[in-house]
Amino acid sequence: MSTPPAPERIPPGIANALDYERLAAQALPAGHLAYIAGGSGEDLTVSANRAAFGRWAILPRVLRDVRAGHTRLALNGATLPHPFVLAPVAHGLLAHPQAELASARAAQATGACIVPSTLSSRTLEEIAAAAGPARWFQLYLHPDPAHTLDLLARAEAAGYQAIVLTVDASLQLASRSALAAGFVLPRECVAANLARYPQACAPALPEGASRIFQGAMRHAPTWDSLQWLLAHTRLPVWVKGVLHPEDALLLKQAGAAGIVVSNHGGRGLDGSPASLSMLPAVRAAVGADYPVLFDGGVRSGADAFKALALGANAVLLGRLQLYALAVAGALGVAHMLQLLTEELQATMALAGCARLCEITPDSLIPTYPC
Ligand code: FNR
Repeated sequence: MSTPPAPERIPPGIANALDYERLAAQALPAGHLAYIAGGSGEDLTVSANRAAFGRWAILPRVLRDVRAGHTRLALNGATLPHPFVLAPVAHGLLAHPQAELASARAAQATGACIVPSTLSSRTLEEIAAAAGPARWFQLYLHPDPAHTLDLLARAEAAGYQAIVLTVDASLQLASRSALAAGFVLPRECVAANLARYPQACAPALPEGASRIFQGAMRHAPTWDSLQWLLAHTRLPVWVKGVLHPEDALLLKQAGAAGIVVSNHGGRGLDGSPASLSMLPAVRAAVGADYPVLFDGGVRSGADAFKALALGANAVLLGRLQLYALAVAGALGVAHMLQLLTEELQATMALAGCARLCEITPDSLIPTYPC
């Protein structure tokens, strides 16, 4: 494995969570960095995700007493100390030799909820043993339903509290930046959860069949497979990768426990809108009380504040988690979460919000180019 071991100390010069992005560029081999930082195609949506935060400014409020302030929230039947969730990210070994075990330890130390990926480098059982009680399992449906059922049974047995079905990445276009950097997934990077399931060979496509529709998409999840999943687990099922307000409403009606407004960090449909830009319409479609999580481009407490103001209950962290992991392992992820929480608290205090529920669209004002 070419990833150098990360030092178990916080490097000097880290003043905010975003510094981990800067330092990760020195900690990671160039190809790994390009794979993690890049999206699909031309990275249009990766850029859009970040740019969307710049379209909003936060309005300060003065003279409000915030001394009873906190960032606690209720989510999926649990009380969490802050609204930061560690997103599912495949192949944690690319960032750190301890991979998801280090993230799990950081989650436990900071009370964060962690959502390990089906494609994690460590098994869901190993991660559960290292994590705190707030853990959900991200599911990619397996072509063989028996294997999906086995994954579900394992997640339930390992004490995961929810299933997060990802629906926006059945097909991923190659990342131009990762290709240009010569990135190839190292042989050691195997999906530990799937090692016990035999890989079925893809059948040859009949002449004239599409490599996309009849090929790559043949096992993609559908509304029927969502119903099948809901009927085969006792855990609440969240659906990740939703941008269209109509899909959000249909998912609520279908029985999803909640949704994650996300474009897979720009790694799915390149050219899709920034997830932040769809958040207000999704919130309007599902109503005030339906749980909506958000991810895509969050790099600071102020970014999280904007997402919460536009309708999210909590935010997931993808790349920031991997950057902190690469720079300083479990300590780095815990430190990054601590910095983000303090950044959010400082933003809330200056915007006159003592609790998360006080962060509303009125806390923001659109910015316009001069
Ligand atoms: C991801 N993401 C992801 N999502 C998922 O549901 N299952 C997965 O296995 C992965 N794998 C993955 C790998 C890498 C390297 C990245 C960067 C992302 C998407 C992830 O959960 C999340 O939606 C985005 O990363 C959010 O955007 P930011 O926070 O990275 O800007």
